[in-house]
Amino acid sequence: MKAAIFRQHGPIENLEYTDMPAPALGPHDVLIRVRAVALNHLDLFVRQGIPGINLNFPHIGGSDIAGEVEALGAAVEGWREGQRVVVNPSLWCGVCEFCVAGEESLCVKYQIIGEHTTGGMAEYIVVPSANLFRIPDDYPFEPAAAAPLVYMTAWRALITQGRLRAGQTVLILGAGGGVASAAIQIARLAGAKVYAASRDGAKRERARELGADEVLDSTADFAKELRAMTNRRGVDVVLENVGEVTWARALRSVAKGGYVVVYGATSGPHVQMDLRPLFWNQYHILGATMSNRQEFNTVMHLVFWERKLQPVVDRVLPLAEIQAAHRALEDGEQFGKIVLTP
Ligand SMILES: NC(=O)c1ccc[n+]([C@@H]2O[C@H](COP(=O)([O-])OP(=O)(O)OC[C@H]3O[C@@H](n4cnc5c(N)ncnc54)[C@H](OP(=O)(O)O)[C@@H]3O)[C@@H](O)[C@H]2O)c1
Ligand SMILES: [Zn+2]
Repeated sequence: MKAAIFRQHGPIENLEYTDMPAPALGPHDVLIRVRAVALNHLDLFVRQGIPGINLNFPHIGGSDIAGEVEALGAAVEGWREGQRVVVNPSLWCGVCEFCVAGEESLCVKYQIIGEHTTGGMAEYIVVPSANLFRIPDDYPFEPAAAAPLVYMTAWRALITQGRLRAGQTVLILGAGGGVASAAIQIARLAGAKVYAASRDGAKRERARELGADEVLDSTADFAKELRAMTNRRGVDVVLENVGEVTWARALRSVAKGGYVVVYGATSGPHVQMDLRPLFWNQYHILGATMSNRQEFNTVMHLVFWERKLQPVVDRVLPLAEIQAAHRALEDGEQFGKIVLTP
């Protein structure tokens, strides 16, 4: 099968579009014919190398997969060949205390398809049947592939960890990002007032079209502007993922008793903070990673069966153009998701 691979960590030039053996099917697995696969910032980090994660080379990345069921393992029930699906990118053990509690993204053996294991940047992938989510027959594969990872992450970050409710206010940083553009829609659906910050004027306009009530320049003192816009109060929830370059301003943006939810650190992970505003203003700082199965099913249902959330596709490229896709994401050109078709 054709696949996008890299044989060692490093720059974009390490990516190759080449032939690889088709994956083997286990009894509880399903072979998926990949029709579209979306890129995440994670794919860039995995190519560059993540401390503590040792890959089997050559590695196939790709966590966001939409396709058709091609073949079923001997023990798989409830699925038929030809059904259209997206894949839950989480891998969990099912027996640790966190899995038993229904918190799969806290699993002690938690992994992500395409990060720790072989991903979907290929014509075929094998995944556990428990990871399949059925999508409607008329739902195109390209926007479908743009949905799983970003909506599950944004849902858990905003709704579960951030406890966002109707009537509240939220600041979403890096508005052009895949997760951030999903978060803008979820926050609107939840009935919140959305402030979105981006480095780029055109992206700020896109954020407004997507549902942001107010937009801010993330290269300026957006905390000061936000305080001016909110009668010095700040917002109930701040969605932080840019990291080092925005952290200090993110903390100055949260209201007393509010939530700063961190799901990424794109610009760098090492930050400093003054503890005094934390205890005086009694705000919360929480992490969020991916989601549990229930959150995944809830938000996928809203995307695919209720159609209340529309995946934002920046562009669709053939998988052979994997280098151009990584470059566009690395340069931050995109608004929403870059999707590849094998
Ligand atoms: N914990 C989890 O489960 C989880 C899940 C998904 C993603 N993540 C992490 O969350 C982050 C975002 O992921 P993604 O896939 O949505 O990424 P993405 O599509 O590449 O978006 C990242 C956005 O952050 C902003 N940004 C990046 N570098 C910046 C800088 N130096 N200064 C200011 N703004 C900057 C840009 O927004 P503007 O151009 O609009 O300013 C960019 O579009 C990544 O670090 C990723 O690893 C974590
Ligand atoms: Zn577990």
